[in-house]
Amino acid sequence: MKPHVIMHMASSIDGTIVPKDWPIAALDGLNDAYEDIHRALKGDAWLVGRVTMAEFAEGAPRPMTTSERFPRKTWKAPGAASGPYAIAVDREGKLHLNISHANGDPLIVILTEGVSDDHLAELRRDGISYIFAGATELDLALALDILADEFAIMLLLLEGGGGINGSFLDADLIDEISLMLSPVADGNPGPSTFDNRITPAKALKLQSVTQLDGGVLHIRYAVIRAE
Ligand SMILES: NC(=O)c1ccc[n+]([C@@H]2O[C@H](COP(=O)([O-])OP(=O)(O)OC[C@H]3O[C@@H](n4cnc5c(N)ncnc54)[C@H](OP(=O)(O)O)[C@@H]3O)[C@@H](O)[C@H]2O)c1
Repeated sequence: MKPHVIMHMASSIDGTIVPKDWPIAALDGLNDAYEDIHRALKGDAWLVGRVTMAEFAEGAPRPMTTSERFPRKTWKAPGAASGPYAIAVDREGKLHLNISHANGDPLIVILTEGVSDDHLAELRRDGISYIFAGATELDLALALDILADEFAIMLLLLEGGGGINGSFLDADLIDEISLMLSPVADGNPGPSTFDNRITPAKALKLQSVTQLDGGVLHIRYAVIRAE
């Protein structure tokens, strides 16, 4: 069983997603509106790529060394009995977060089996749950099955960045899109809503358009699944 996946993102009209150079007026209220919609969607979890989750890390990395050997199977942190959960995709175990929760939600990391025991010891020390989805290559569909079966995640909010969004869409794993289109054009070459090539390009079905404060459009789409 897989969770229903809604991608929730805010972008400029040209699709860029890093608002650091956007005019203050465009940012005014955008974060609050993004979080309001995040809460209204009532996900059992939110999932982001490694680069995005790294922004939540606290302090300097504190890697560990261990002689222990840990089984490559799901480990649930003692404080992670129920969601909503915060999930990071980190296939090679590069994240050093130093926290057990992000935005108040217990963390789960999606790994591949080749990560070191040292890294698993660090995750256990920090109280971060982990699952394995693939030997060396990450299998996102398998990850979704495990999250549904072992953490009861039935509605997942996919919240960027463009690398992980593109991988999910290309694998046909997104059901709906919730896009906050901000009235800004920045033309930056940086991350955009989808950075991986989607082959073939996906058709979307418009569900609704709502105008929010500041001229932001909240657009809902259903993804038309490949036959
Ligand atoms: N406006 C918004 O709504 C919004 C939302 C979220 C983030 N952002 C911004 O977006 C920026 C980051 O975006 P990003 O695209 O650079 O990073 P990202 O999607 O957060 O992370 C990209 C990483 O995800 C991993 N990845 C990608 N495809 C994968 C796959 N198929 N399997 C396994 N892992 C995969 C790779 O990690 P490895 O290199 O470790 O393999 C890749 O480096 C940040 O500045 C953030 O603030 C904006």
